Amino acid sequence: MSIEQRILDLKKKHSAVILAHYYEDGEIQDIADFVGDSLALAQFGKASDAKVILMAGVVFMGETAKILSPEKTVLVPDLKAGCSLVDHSPYEQYLEWRHKHPDAICVSYVNSSAKVKSITDITCTSSNAEKILAAIPEDRPVLFGPDRNLGSYLAKKSSRDLILWPGACEVHVLFSARKLFELKTEHPDAIVLAHPECLDEVLQYADVIGSTSKILNEVKTNPAKKFIVATEDGIFHQMRKERPDAELFQAPAEGSCACNQCPYMKLNTLEKIEQALESLAPALDIEDGVAESAQLPLERMLKVTNGESIDWPASFSGPN
Ligand code: 13P
Ligand code: SF4
Repeated sequence: MSIEQRILDLKKKHSAVILAHYYEDGEIQDIADFVGDSLALAQFGKASDAKVILMAGVVFMGETAKILSPEKTVLVPDLKAGCSLVDHSPYEQYLEWRHKHPDAICVSYVNSSAKVKSITDITCTSSNAEKILAAIPEDRPVLFGPDRNLGSYLAKKSSRDLILWPGACEVHVLFSARKLFELKTEHPDAIVLAHPECLDEVLQYADVIGSTSKILNEVKTNPAKKFIVATEDGIFHQMRKERPDAELFQAPAEGSCACNQCPYMKLNTLEKIEQALESLAPALDIEDGVAESAQLPLERMLKVTNGESIDWPASFSGPN
């Protein structure tokens, strides 16, 4: 029996669903019940009736699912599947930053730890960040982190001053503006697509900037025949399925490495997924108190995304 069939049998046995991010290997995306960007994974996980969710993504994605549905078992095949943005935002320093700006609304990019989320007012992903920002009263200062590149892109787009945390994605900062310019010069008819975690000097050459789902949607709907893509290479799997007629180029990195592969996303394998479904482990367990406090900013994000209005706290009243 193939490993794919064994996984399907285990999934049935435990009434589990498999959720996969676009950055996973194609063979993982192909066995998933749902493939999406960070926001869609959070929404799907929350709406699902399944008792067990296997998150084929990184740990913060599994934590988000668990915080939004504490009663469900959330499996992450490899607990080492972190994120450089989580590593760049240690809780103690983040808390200190918050205390320095008690009147500000603090927006946490969903690529952050549960503990950091627990001391922020609202979360966002790259697909709803502009909407979240627009919902914050104009007279309130805004703290945005941990991704400074997404933050500075948002500041420019909204013409609003944001106080930025200095974190970055170790994958997206490696794309080279110089080489992208050269590639675009070679293929002037290509549409350049970029994730907002890229450096500003790369984003300046992009025709479309957005989340993984926005980038994928552009390839689906834009009749152009050539696309240059500045994000992680897992996304090419769905792009090739959608547009076998199009020529897809990876945006080049400065070195000659496989820089556009997220080392954390790529820790997941079919073998680890089978193992996790067999043993129902590792299952995420979020510290008491942290899960409850992190639920509020995530629920606020989902409400604003759905067009609902929310109340904003007058000032920071979190832990010392
Ligand atoms: P998306 O929310 O656009 O899927 O991005 C997630 C991510 O980790 C980007 O590096
Ligand atoms: Fe984190 Fe970057 Fe990997 Fe996305 S691509 S999970 S931001 S390290």
